[in-house]
Amino acid sequence: MLLTCQAGFESVLVRELADAGVVVGEHGPGWALAADGADVRGLAFPHVTMRGAVEVKGESVNALAGRMIDFFLTSLRGERVDAAWPCVMGGPAELVGLGRRMSGVEKEFHEQLKKRLARVAKLAVADLPRGRGEARGLFVWFTDFGRVFVAREAFMHGQRRMADDDAAPSRSYLKVEEAFVVLGAEPQAGETVADLGAAPGGWSYSAAKRGAAVVAVDNGPLKGGALNNPLIEHCTDDAFHFNFEASKAYDWMLCDLLEEPHHVMKNLIEPWLARGWCKRFVFNLKFGHVDSVALLRELRAPDSPLSRYAPGFMIRHLYHDREEFTVVGEVSAAGELGR
Ligand SMILES: C[S@@+](CC[C@H](N)C(=O)[O-])C[C@H]1O[C@@H](n2cnc3c(N)ncnc32)[C@H](O)[C@@H]1O
Repeated sequence: MLLTCQAGFESVLVRELADAGVVVGEHGPGWALAADGADVRGLAFPHVTMRGAVEVKGESVNALAGRMIDFFLTSLRGERVDAAWPCVMGGPAELVGLGRRMSGVEKEFHEQLKKRLARVAKLAVADLPRGRGEARGLFVWFTDFGRVFVAREAFMHGQRRMADDDAAPSRSYLKVEEAFVVLGAEPQAGETVADLGAAPGGWSYSAAKRGAAVVAVDNGPLKGGALNNPLIEHCTDDAFHFNFEASKAYDWMLCDLLEEPHHVMKNLIEPWLARGWCKRFVFNLKFGHVDSVALLRELRAPDSPLSRYAPGFMIRHLYHDREEFTVVGEVSAAGELGR
């Protein structure tokens, strides 16, 4: 299988795979090639896992497109295509000129497919399906100008580039938008949200935009669409003490603190989950100064607060994340307030 990740994070992806017992053969910017078979759906660093990926080589655009057509048509035998299907090509943006090569191959592939199977060609969609889950189509990854991997099956881990919003006060807004896609749920009108470490307010704005009532906890100022927003109440408390006396339950807890991840887990996330102060959560952990793979191991351990109080949790290195990953989930009814 071929797994893609954010470029620059392939060595961590390789380590995460090794930790899961998956042997990696080769890797490059934004991808790793590994033995098929293992269940990698819960891993944090992969973005797309192309199952049963087959190597195709060709020195020219026409040669590559022709071999991809051969692969596709052979694999299509006996299959009826009646609905839209993803036909997605990608590769490392670092390789100068690769974009042009990819669009050349893509164009030629479609020309040839149109001649052979016009009806199937018309149903192709050049975008990954939204959200997490399995997909069938054609997935192509260029590792070089003359070498691609092609697969019919892929698992989407849920990451994707999000659209910006002019009123959003920070780029961090994109992370929480993407996290809602991974979780498959987002704040609803009338729900309550505690946003811990909220300034300048990107995450609060994202929740308020959906009609939720937000308390934005940060002693820094709110800006842009979060400033004077009637659905956002600014509270200058310390996030590590907020709600400890009131013990109030919120529909959502969002948390994006530039703090040491163990400190955040122990002194904020664990009490919030254990006491059932939120039903759902999105939080970020910065791994710039710790071993990210060791941290993942700790978070997934059977006795970790996440395993105990939110067993369906997911950890993802998002498209919009930097040296951090994002944890999303739902608190099980076992929290103290839920008992
Ligand atoms: C990465 S920024 C949050 C960005 C925000 N999610 C957004 O979308 O605009 C981290 C914020 O955490 C705040 N912060 C750090 N420690 C805090 C604490 N103990 N209590 C409250 N806020 C804290 C900082 O003031 C900073 O504004």
